[in-house]
Amino acid sequence: ARLAILLSGRGSNMLAVARATQTGILRDLAEVAVVFSNRPDAPGLAAAGALGCPTAALPSQGRPRAAFDAEAAALLQQYRPDFVVLAGYMRILSPAFIQPFAGRIVNIHPADTHQHQGLHAYEWAFDNHLPETKITVHLVDEGLDTGPVLAQQTVDLRGAGTLAEVERRGLAVEHELYAQALADLIRSGHRAEKERHAERSRSIS
Ligand code: GRF
Repeated sequence: ARLAILLSGRGSNMLAVARATQTGILRDLAEVAVVFSNRPDAPGLAAAGALGCPTAALPSQGRPRAAFDAEAAALLQQYRPDFVVLAGYMRILSPAFIQPFAGRIVNIHPADTHQHQGLHAYEWAFDNHLPETKITVHLVDEGLDTGPVLAQQTVDLRGAGTLAEVERRGLAVEHELYAQALADLIRSGHRAEKERHAERSRSIS
């Protein structure tokens, strides 16, 4: 499957997924078609280039959302992605963006999306002294962190005395879970494709 990975910042999840396509769990399943950013100076974009991934950027600053999203979607379509993988992409997606990729946009959220939506999920867990939090990989719909959950994994936060420690533990889980969830998603797509094929052959014979 061809992945378009979208980021706005550091890109540690992008690196985990891209590495998994090169030498890990996604090796025979996926390739990075492009790493895209709405911030041309995002550190993650440089990291993607260093890893040998194609990169593209389109500055969003100062642009109306619908116009930017339509242009970004058109740019991404040139790379023919099967899945759009959000990895710290700090924008709420408008229908103009979602529509061409409906059901094929995936996000990772550093909390249970039923309990916490939007930014600062690790701060929320830390400030509330939560004993654990749940990393969530989900499909993106038009709400904020509301789409169907694909995978979740619990992070033990007991004894984590600083926000940095909460983030360190959480990110380690994020990096594993994202590649795993994408592998499962791609495999289930392959299975569905095979079933459709078998169905077609049965109806022909
Ligand atoms: C991660 O915590 C991710 O769950 C959230 O944004 C952060 C991005 O970090 N959506 P990175 O850029 O992947 O390092």
